[in-house]
Amino acid sequence: MKELLAQRVLTNDTSDLDEIFKNSANPANISFAGGFPDQHLFPAAELQQAYRDAIETTGPSLFQYASTQGLPALRQKLADRMRSHASVDVTADDILLTQGGQQAIDLVAKLLLNHGDAMVVEGPTYMGALAAFDTYEPTYYEVPVDNHGMDIKVLRQTLKAHPEIKLIYTVPDFHNPTGTTLSAKRRQAMVALANQYNVIILEDSPYRDLRYSGQALPAIKHYDTEGRVIFISSFSKILSPALRTGWLVASPTLMTQLIGLKSAIDVQSPNITLAAINTYLDQHDIDQHIATINQAYREKRDAMLSALDRYFPKNVTYTRPNGGFFIWVTLPTGIDAQQLLTDVVLPQAHVAYVPAACQFASRQVKNAFRLNFTSLDPVTITRGIQQLGQLLQTQVTPKPTATWTPAIQL
Ligand SMILES: Cc1ncc(COP(=O)(O)O)c(C=O)c1O
Repeated sequence: MKELLAQRVLTNDTSDLDEIFKNSANPANISFAGGFPDQHLFPAAELQQAYRDAIETTGPSLFQYASTQGLPALRQKLADRMRSHASVDVTADDILLTQGGQQAIDLVAKLLLNHGDAMVVEGPTYMGALAAFDTYEPTYYEVPVDNHGMDIKVLRQTLKAHPEIKLIYTVPDFHNPTGTTLSAKRRQAMVALANQYNVIILEDSPYRDLRYSGQALPAIKHYDTEGRVIFISSFSKILSPALRTGWLVASPTLMTQLIGLKSAIDVQSPNITLAAINTYLDQHDIDQHIATINQAYREKRDAMLSALDRYFPKNVTYTRPNGGFFIWVTLPTGIDAQQLLTDVVLPQAHVAYVPAACQFASRQVKNAFRLNFTSLDPVTITRGIQQLGQLLQTQVTPKPTATWTPAIQL
């Protein structure tokens, strides 16, 4: 029956990735592959109480259909938070509640991308975003990331050479997968370029509040002068991913269209969950909760970095993120991280990571991989990195250090 499937499904082959996650779920392996929060840090009892109280307080009407845009009281809290935590001045009307950040990405892709339309993604980028964009069959232009986020010089050249580009997708805070953060100067420059070349920026920032060192920066949307930045964030990493609740901030014209699109997909997000989150925020100081999880994640990050310093070969480089979930490791050129994983790392070191290729739109860069440090405890992290490092010592012959600077993919 394959002949009946749409082309976009056929070109979207995720079998490699499915295999990696299947292997990493094996309890015999230490998996740094998933991008999971630590489940011991979920405020489960508080959320349980919040669900109960929300249902009791509102009564039967909570089980009724509700607005597509989502619970006004929760949108108001998020508007206040955008002002205090991201220096973005918005009202509740500028916010759409979505089923996770993932739905927000899909909505923006649906809003903007016709088949073949041109867009910019970081190289590497969040593979879930690529999966969402792929179904709209865009033409990708890949702009490399360095220690200060997306390379603005390459972005400028790319926009100049391809004025048909409509959209820039970026993860500016503790980037998935490299952990790097876009500097304030580059944020301003990106908005200026978007204005100059008539482009929309999709700022995807689910890790923004998970900072373990350094100073917070304003969102890219803070610099937005023409309503061309769409901001996305989520409760997945700061409360729980099972809530499937994220939010999108957009200017009024775009918002009307986005609400229409969401209505056509799922009518509304589950109102009971939105009410429970709203009640949780009334009953608890979420910043205190975030401070607690940040302390735990800081220790895990530090455990992973110390183990990398201690056990990894000197010709393997890695990022040192100030927050978020991930560290990006670069192997010497010529080494295929995917093949290494399947042939030696899983069977001999019993460790899993996410190889580079599926995190690039071009699929061209192979000598790197992503490590997650949030889901395991520091002792297991250290043991896993030791096992991996000792194996890499035998696999990686000393050569000059490689960097990941992919060519732009056309
Ligand atoms: C950069 C980025 N955006 C969006 C998401 C989607 O998250 P959710 O749909 O759970 O909010 C993730 C999840 O890992 C992510 O890393």
